[in-house]
Amino acid sequence: MNHKSILITGVSTGIGLVTARDLLRRGFRVYGSVRSPLSEDESNDLAHHPQFTELHFDVRDREAIRAGIQRITDEGHHLVGVVNNAGVAVPGPIETTDEAEYRRQFDVNVFGLISVCQESLPLLHAARDAGHHPRIVNVSSVSGYLTSPFMAFYSSSKFAVEALTDGLRRELMPFGIDVVSVAPGPTKTPIWAKGREQTSGFEDNRYSHLIPQLAPYTQAAERGGVEPQLVADAIYAALTDKVPRAHVLIMKKRWLAKLIRHAPKRVQDRFFTKRVR
Ligand SMILES: NC(=O)c1ccc[n+]([C@@H]2O[C@H](COP(=O)([O-])OP(=O)(O)OC[C@H]3O[C@@H](n4cnc5c(N)ncnc54)[C@H](OP(=O)(O)O)[C@@H]3O)[C@@H](O)[C@H]2O)c1
Repeated sequence: MNHKSILITGVSTGIGLVTARDLLRRGFRVYGSVRSPLSEDESNDLAHHPQFTELHFDVRDREAIRAGIQRITDEGHHLVGVVNNAGVAVPGPIETTDEAEYRRQFDVNVFGLISVCQESLPLLHAARDAGHHPRIVNVSSVSGYLTSPFMAFYSSSKFAVEALTDGLRRELMPFGIDVVSVAPGPTKTPIWAKGREQTSGFEDNRYSHLIPQLAPYTQAAERGGVEPQLVADAIYAALTDKVPRAHVLIMKKRWLAKLIRHAPKRVQDRFFTKRVR
């Protein structure tokens, strides 16, 4: 009883999976959410780890989130951190992408994150009352302040995550709960391959000529990405540093992202359109 526990959403693959393993190695109890049960396969280290509990919820399903949080409550461990990691990237032109797709972008990355925060906050307040320094860590993105063409739905969802992070941090400051964002740039995870399969917004329309450029572009970005362990290290720091940074960007050529961020919009336009026309 009373182990320090962390909830991470979306631990089936990528950053969530690596972060869950990392936090288990570092001695935390980890509650990880998945949409489909993890395989009971011998090779699945998470499923067999004694300090890991699998929760089943889609972040769009409020009732299922509530049931997951109830499980944490019933087990009686102090919830000292929530890592809002679950996310999707919906690529496509703004003009032609289906409504269901752009709504899914916001339902998962924005409204799902809000639901997880609201449902878990009572446990974070309780952990604070028990003497802990609880944290919410939102996995944002460099796309939370720079917008590539054909990634505007994803980018606007991450702009929203940044605003929610700042707003929630300022609201919870008086209650001793810190809220920060960890913003990866390109990271080597399955999110890129999933994106490559989503070409419907480009099909049979004025953007179709771009289809052959999409896969090479995203493959190059993925190859140049950082390892997810670097992001997991930043999440660990955000959860445990005495005064964590309110926002941290994890990527190669961080200086370039910072330079472009402060450049005039017309200069940004030239940078973002030189490879995709
Ligand atoms: N990789 C990058 O280059 C990069 C860069 C910046 C930010 N990020 C952010 O990092 C986070 C993790 O992404 P990743 O790169 O590790 O990609 P990933 O491997 O695709 O992982 C995404 C995770 O989110 C889960 N998820 C998706 N939709 C969900 C839903 N509706 N409800 C609950 N869980 C859901 C997925 O579960 P299923 O297996 O069930 O789909 C998976 O576990 C995301 O927020 C992403 O935006 C990634």
